[in-house]
Formats: sequence, structure tokens, C-alpha cells
Amino acid sequence: MIISKPPFCPVQFQDSDLLNSGFHAATDMHALWADLRENQPLYRADPGGGREPFWVVTRHEDVSRVLRSHGEFSSRRGTILCVLDLNTADIASDNMMADTDPPRHREFREPLNKAFAPSVVATQERLLRELSQDLIQSVLEAGVYDIAHKTMMFPMAVTGTLMGLPPESWERLAELVMMTIAYDDPDYSAGSAQATVRQARHELFEYFQKEYAQRSRDDVDPDVIGAMVGMDLSEGPMTQEQVLLNAFVLLIGANVTTPHALCTLMSVMAEHPEQYRAVQENPELRASCLQELLRWSSPVTALMRYAVKDVEMHGRTIRAGEPVTAWIGAANRDERVFPDPYTFDVARRPNKHLAFGLGPHYCIGANLAKVGLDIFLDELLERVESIEIAGEVKHVASHFVPGYKSMPVRFTPREAHVR
Ligand code: HEM
Repeated sequence: MIISKPPFCPVQFQDSDLLNSGFHAATDMHALWADLRENQPLYRADPGGGREPFWVVTRHEDVSRVLRSHGEFSSRRGTILCVLDLNTADIASDNMMADTDPPRHREFREPLNKAFAPSVVATQERLLRELSQDLIQSVLEAGVYDIAHKTMMFPMAVTGTLMGLPPESWERLAELVMMTIAYDDPDYSAGSAQATVRQARHELFEYFQKEYAQRSRDDVDPDVIGAMVGMDLSEGPMTQEQVLLNAFVLLIGANVTTPHALCTLMSVMAEHPEQYRAVQENPELRASCLQELLRWSSPVTALMRYAVKDVEMHGRTIRAGEPVTAWIGAANRDERVFPDPYTFDVARRPNKHLAFGLGPHYCIGANLAKVGLDIFLDELLERVESIEIAGEVKHVASHFVPGYKSMPVRFTPREAHVR
């Protein structure tokens, strides 16, 4: 996705483009979103092709309401746009944490919160530092290095460790994750979009089935999958299908988002060396810099809900049962909330970005992601004087995440680290 600044060139689009991955990869979506925010804050899109019409909200206030207000907007029929795009029924309703509403949601979420508590994340700090050092060293040694692939392995190594998955499977798991969200991208596709998603899901579920079979409720000190095997829901122990679905959502949640934030960190610091220097000279800016990175990168572009009842918004009625898409990328540039929203400002405070969502489904891995990004930034500031984009940058074709599949960079080492 191209990120430009106002004054924008108007973007001509058809409603189906909102679900078109190639359109997202090639278009300045910020120009389109700015127009919708200003002129059509509640927009009804009719994508055609037998797919359901859906509502589009782009303002911060409305995106917050859709994500937070589960009494009005439900997660039970699926939350990623792929459901609309591929016209598929969501099989995870009430069985996968992301596709439940409270109070059912709490049955999954509360025990799993423990698996990502700060004390657990702290056990991963050493691994996160090693991964950060390794990534930076790869660039320093190579001169020019494409970081996109290694940034994908960064969250994979951490979730793989927490979930107790063997390292030799991480590479393939990272590919399968990309197939599920970038099914139109020729680099990940295995035939039609439907066939790609089907193959990826099939392989992932088969994989987790084998992992499930190796765990038992009596495991001492279980990993995250083992913890789910031991979990009880109101109807009894979590079933194999429920464990598989929740392992799947954890893997997807971590691995499609974090790499995008890491790559955006490089690209934005290369573009704004004065901001990088400011953080180097004022370490107290690190925290606000990371918040700004999350606002700026918005690793999840949009989420979906279905109206539970008729809801009034901007003088129109969203009817019960209709899908509503909440565009986080758009909300995070809303001029009503962020002064000068198209400026990357490492000192921005307050910063009420919605990158991790809001309300009951607020990202369960937010703390893990923030600690990982903070450790990476710490290593970068310590070892790298300046960053340069040193080749063609390629984006993943997806309307769910704005990720990168190629980003060649060059680092100038800091004096103390020249070898
Ligand atoms: C920069 C990194 C990340 C970003 C931007 C991000 C973003 C988000 C967002 C926007 C949601 C809300 C979904 C909704 O409202 O329907 C969410 C939920 C979720 N995230 Fe993340 N995420 C990140 C990292 C992670 C990590 C590291 C993990 C795994 C440990 C993870 C696992 C999940 C899961 C399982 C959910 C569903 C939670 C629920 O339904 O209660 N995410 N994430």
C-alpha cells in the first residue's frame, strides 16, 4: 500500500475493490479512506458477484464503537473480511475465541490470558533479543539484505516456542499462515483463492491434530496447546476441534501482524532519519515511538462484525444481521483524533491508536508484541547508525494485512559495532 500525504489525488474505486487484495497493494488507500471519513462515514458497499453488501466505517469513533460494542455488533459470524470475500461460512462460531461474544468469549479468553501474562512474556525476552541481534547482524554482514523473510520468522520462533512446536516446522507454518491471508498473492497462492485457503487450513489443522495427540490433561508445566487441552468450558473439557481452532487463531494473530510492524519500522526510519536520531538521542522517546509505529503501520487493516440489532449511525440504519467492516488503518489517521495524522511523530502523545483493537477482543498478544518490538528497537538503536532502503519494496497482496514480502535494507553500523 502506498502511503502519501494530503492533498490526495482522488481514488476511483468500485465497491468490489475494497475486497480486492491487488487493489489494496497498488493503491493509496489513505487517500480513499480520507475521502470516506470526510464524506461518507457510513458507506454501504455492494461488491457484487453474489457476495453480501457490507457497511464500511472509517472514523475512529465509529471503528471504536463497532469493535467494542458487542451488544450491537457480534463477532460470532467471523471477523476477517475473507469470510465476505470468499463467501464462506465461518465454522468457528462460539468455538474459537475470536469468533465469540461475551459471556462465551470469557470462557476461552480468561484462561488463555494467563498464557500471555507479562510473567510468561518475560521468559521470552532472551529469545527476542537473540532474534533481534541475529536479524540486525544478517543485514550488517550482507551489506544489503532482504529482511522480509526473517521478520516473518521472528514471531514464529516466539509463538512456536510458547506453543511447544518443533522448530523444523516453523518455516512451513509461516508459509501456511501467509496462504490463509494472502490467498490472491501469486507468491502464496496454490490455485484459486478458495483452494489456497482450503489447502492451508487443511495442512494447519492436520499439523495441530498431531500436536494435540501428543498432549494430555495431566501434562506438568504445559505449553499453550497443552494448557488448552487442560481447559474446561461450561459444557466440559475443550474438545479437540476447539483446541485446533484456537491454536490456529493464535498462530495467525501473531504471525501476520508483527512482521509488518518490524518492516514498517525500517521503512519509516529510513524515510525519516531525523526521527530515528531523535530516539537515539532521547531514549525516553522509545515508548511513544513504538506507539506511533503501531498507529502508523496498523498491521490489521480491517475487521468485521455483524449487527445484532438495528443500529442508527450517521442518520442511517444498519439492519440486524448486516455485516459491518471497521477499517483500523483509516481510524488511525483520523484527523478528528490525531493532530497532523500523516506525520510520523515519535513524540506523539496521547496516541489512542486502534492497532490492537478495542474492547473484549483487544489483542491477547499485545504485550508480547510490544515487548518484542521494544527489544528489537533497543538493539537497532544500539547497533545501527542509519537505515537505508536498498532495493524494490514489495507488498503482500491482502486486504486484511498490509504486509511486506520484500524489503532490501542497508544499515550503517554505529562506531562501537564496526567489526
Ligand atoms: C503488532 C502485532 C499485533 C497486532 C497489530 C495485532 C492486532 C490485533 C487486533 C486488531 C485484534 C482484535 C481482533 C478483533 O477485535 O476481532 C487482535 C486480536 C488477537 N490477537 Fe493480535 N495483534 C498482534 C500480535 C499478536 C500476537 C503476538 C498474538 C499471539 C500471541 C496475537 C493473537 C491474537 C489473538 C488470538 C486475538 C483474538 C483475541 C480475542 O478474540 O479475544 N496477536 N490482534
